[in-house]
This record gives sequence, structure tokens and C-alpha cells, in this order.
Amino acid sequence: MNDMAPGSFGIPFQITDPERIPAKRYYDPEFFRMENERLWPRVWQMAARLEEIPNVGDYQTYEILGKSIIIVHTKDGVKAFHNTCRHRGLALVEGAGNCGRQGFVCPFHGWRWNTEGENTFVFAPHIFSPEVLDKAEINLIACRMELWGGMAWINLDDDAPALLDCLGPVAERMDVRNVDKLRADWWYGTVLPTNWKLAMEAFMESYHVMKTHPQLHMLAPSPQYASGIAADPGAAAPTPREAVYGFYAFLERLSDGMAGLVHADEVKVAAKTKDMPLPDDVPGAIGAFFQQFKTDLHADGQARGLAVPDINAVDASHPHKQVEFIFPHFFLLPFFGSMSSYRIRPLTSETCLFEIWSLAFLPDDHVSPKEPTMLPFDSEDFPEVPRQDYNNLPRQQRGLHGFEEMRLSKDWEGLISNYQRLIDGYLNRADPKELASATQLVNDGYDHTIIPLLV
Ligand code: FES
Ligand SMILES: [Fe+2]
Repeated sequence: MNDMAPGSFGIPFQITDPERIPAKRYYDPEFFRMENERLWPRVWQMAARLEEIPNVGDYQTYEILGKSIIIVHTKDGVKAFHNTCRHRGLALVEGAGNCGRQGFVCPFHGWRWNTEGENTFVFAPHIFSPEVLDKAEINLIACRMELWGGMAWINLDDDAPALLDCLGPVAERMDVRNVDKLRADWWYGTVLPTNWKLAMEAFMESYHVMKTHPQLHMLAPSPQYASGIAADPGAAAPTPREAVYGFYAFLERLSDGMAGLVHADEVKVAAKTKDMPLPDDVPGAIGAFFQQFKTDLHADGQARGLAVPDINAVDASHPHKQVEFIFPHFFLLPFFGSMSSYRIRPLTSETCLFEIWSLAFLPDDHVSPKEPTMLPFDSEDFPEVPRQDYNNLPRQQRGLHGFEEMRLSKDWEGLISNYQRLIDGYLNRADPKELASATQLVNDGYDHTIIPLLV
């Protein structure tokens, strides 16, 4: 259908039917170039977790499509600068580290900057015309940055609406879960031969769980257990204790398989809770176990001086969503207290950098990783669940060539459509305030219906 159908700004492959996504959006170089030019320079991007830069002088770099930003812990807080020497343009630093007492020192001719971005040293200044060394010109260029949720977010557009105006209600849903107190237990990265949007979309619906993650589907406590019917239709209905043990087995499998979605410390608490006295009926037993488990997690956290929220209260005031997307390239998977966190950056039109953090409430002396452990995407060292997703993605990328358009479930796969149409809004250079309002609507969990946007 809409092959090369132009939008008002000549967008190729624009979405004209919200239930159908043209396949070329996932590999066409011109479409990728437009995203690079019109989307990425205008959106808020999670650039660093604050525990990666715990001490003054600690820095982290964030790369996006050839641009590099330094996020640095200064004596007055956290700042962000373009990672470019003002003499002849070298990237000042790479990866993460501590800039030490000398500050940032360019490895080419030794110019220096302090953590405030002020130039502190030029070797042999007398050989330059004074105007070339004008202070305002040789200080590092600041990058717009805001803090939220224990993370530093950057935006390359000085005129974009504020971060919280783009995040919307997701920020409050995460705040009540003390997201800013979570710390990274581990951090993995991989390069996937997959367009960044395709990789994001693998997490936007639970429709794939039945086939892609059958081990989770079989063990899921509901609806089979909650209704008192065994997962295996030939098996006898479980007793309340068997049902609770089944749920416990699900938590263990999820903890192993997602390595962090349910943290091992939480499984230890569940191991005790599962032997609590139970009501006589299966749904009642599951409900009582669930309630008590969350109470026990909160108590265990308090006893260990950790900021585990009162999860029962939080679930009542802000109903839990299993995946919380933050447009364009970040999402959190809250479960009980701990969460997994994903960030997916474009590298080329058909490759992306895919990172996963395991976040948990951890003691103050816990040392979080400062850089990801990079693995091949088909590494056996990845937890079971992402490995299953990685298995599909490169295959889907290959399959999209010679394929016209995806067809979406309007009820269950709507987030994919919502995301893609918001991208079209950026490519069409829609009004920034309208884009911010649309982003708030899109940042609304997963398994979503198709909603009107930017009409
Ligand atoms: S390029 Fe950095 S000091 Fe010359
Ligand atoms: Fe999955």
C-alpha cells in the first residue's frame, strides 16, 4: 500500500492505516536518516544511571548516532557536555571513568577542562590569536540534561518541553515505587542485527509469551491456578498449597530466566512466605499468598534499611503495569520491588545496541557496574527470557525484506502503532507541545489498544 506515500514533510512509508506498519520503516536507509535528523535530536534520552557516577569526577559517556555526551558528577551535582575538544574536535573521553584532579585532558595537545566544563589550560597560548582563545568559545558546550528516577536524561534540543512534561503519568507511577532508589545489580549489552524499533516492539505485547516463552506461559499462576484448574488439562486440580508452590516455582523461574525481574533476594522472602497458613480455596490461597508476600518484602526491606515501598499500598493507588515504556528507547519492567530496565539505541538502519540492567534495592556498599558486560547476542550467558527474544529478532529483521506491511491486533499490539505514529509526528515536525502530550499518552504501559494521536 503506502510505499513512498509522502507525509506533509515527504516522509516515506508513512503510516496511513494504524493497524498496518510498512516493513521498509525497519530497514530503509532514507527512513533511518530522517529519524536521525528529526527524531533523535529532539527527544529526551536516558543517558546514564547515577550510580554509574557515584563520586565527584566520575563520568559516563552516552553515544547516539555519532554524537557523544559526557555526563559528569561535579561538586555541585551532575552536568552534561558535548564530548568534543574545543581545539580540533577530539572526543575528550571514551567509556566511563574519573577525570581526576586535572579534569578532562585532551589526549592530542593537552588542553584541559574542569568538571564545570571551564577551560583551565591551553598549552602555549601565545601562539594563538587571543580571539581564538576567547573563554566563552573554548569552554565545553553544555548539553541539556535533567535528572529523574535515579537517571540523567539528555535532550539535544534546547527548545524541547521539559522532561516531566514528556514523561507524563509514568513518572508518578514509577516514583511511588521508589525507582530513584533502585541500583544496578548487573548490566549487559549486546549488538543485535535488528532495527531499534523492531527490538523495542518485541516487548510491547504479551501476545508472544505463549509461543516465545512457553516456560512462563505454562507456569503463570493465572488464569489456570487462580480458577483452580491445573495447567495440564489432564492433571488433577491443585490443592491450595500446590497452587501456592506452583506460583513460587513461577517466581523462581522468572528470577532465573529474567535474572533480575524478580530479584533473588525477593525469591528468598517468597520461600518463607509460601509456607504460611492458607485459606481452603485456590483463588483465596493465591490472593492471600500474594498479599502476604508483598507485606513480607516491605518488612524485609525495612529490616535491611532498604527503600522497598509498601507494594500492597502502591499497587492499590497506582495499579501495576508489567512494562512501562518511556518513548523513544527505554523501558522498565516493575514486578514486585525490583525491576529490569532496557535501553535500545540505533546503530545503523538494521543494527541496534541493546542493554539490560537488573535493578534492585541494594545495600549502600553494593558496587554497581560502570560499564555493560558486552556479550554476543546469541551468548548462552544471557538469561533465558531475553535469549528467547533475541532468537526471534534477527529472524524477523531478515523476514521483513520482501514483506510489505505488518498487521497488528488493535486490542493487544496497539502500542506498536502508537509508537510508530508518534515517530511520524516527529518526522512531520509536529508542534513540540503536541508531541509532548502524545508522548504522555504513549507512555502508558503495554498490551495497549490503538489510540488516536496527533489528529
Ligand atoms: S585537539 Fe584537543 S587539544 Fe588539540
Ligand atoms: Fe519476550
